[in-house]
Amino acid sequence: MEILSVRNLGKIYKGMVSYEALSNIDLSINQGEFVGIMGPSGSGKTTLLNMISTIDKPTSGEIRIGGEDPYGLSQDKLAMFRRRELGFVFQSFNLLNTLTIKENILLPLTLDGAPLGEMNEKVAALAEKLGITDILDKRTYEISGGQAQRTAIARALIHDPKLLLADEPTGNLDSKSAREVMEILEKRNREDQVTMLLVTHDAVAASYCSRVIFIKDGQLYNEIYCGESRTAFYQKIINVLSLLGGNGHEFPPVRI
Ligand SMILES: Nc1ncnc2c1ncn2[C@@H]1O[C@H](COP(=O)(O)OP(=O)(O)O)[C@@H](O)[C@H]1O
Ligand SMILES: [Mg+2]
Repeated sequence: MEILSVRNLGKIYKGMVSYEALSNIDLSINQGEFVGIMGPSGSGKTTLLNMISTIDKPTSGEIRIGGEDPYGLSQDKLAMFRRRELGFVFQSFNLLNTLTIKENILLPLTLDGAPLGEMNEKVAALAEKLGITDILDKRTYEISGGQAQRTAIARALIHDPKLLLADEPTGNLDSKSAREVMEILEKRNREDQVTMLLVTHDAVAASYCSRVIFIKDGQLYNEIYCGESRTAFYQKIINVLSLLGGNGHEFPPVRI
């Protein structure tokens, strides 16, 4: 079943000079896929993700999420659609410092007025899966970056979104925490069939995806699938990146 459909999408930023950040993007993601988007800095990754996130309107083309055109919705319905159907994970975690970890995770459900017992059960089950049970009563300044990102993932998953969107989720983490976060995303995808789309410039992070789409200068460039071996997939990703940017030597050999 198709969760996301992007057809002939284009984005022009209008300013003193207008700039075509994306053109002719076609993309389809099925239920249960884990897709990565890669490309050089300035290639349009965040622009694409923002349009899919319904944060920024495309100039042309169309987007369907679960069959729905989010840009056809009224402001109120769009806000609700975003809150109910999508989950967001950001590079900078975006947790609220005045709340505990548990309160941060529960925020989307609190906004929807869910019953307390149900909320507590959900947060306990999810915290267990993400390995953050023992920090639930802490505040954001008492936890590590990796724990903060796992909290943000829990918050993004608490309402069982149709699609989880992540922009550079490992961008602020050391390599060990980054791997832990990617392992957690991969596991939620595999075990709970959460459909995920993530933007990353990190080949190690991308190697956890089942498919990686490359964009260059605002256009689709290539697409590769993970086969049997993640190590081989990592190597394939590096190869495409070096063709894209011509800087193969920038990627040192890494143990996967
Ligand atoms: N709000 C904006 N106004 C004008 N130009 C923008 C804006 N946002 C991004 N751009 C330009 O669009 C291009 C793609 O940006 P972006 O999607 O952020 O790339 P990436 O995430 O791949 O690094 C860049 O050249 C960037 O300077
Ligand atoms: Mg970006």
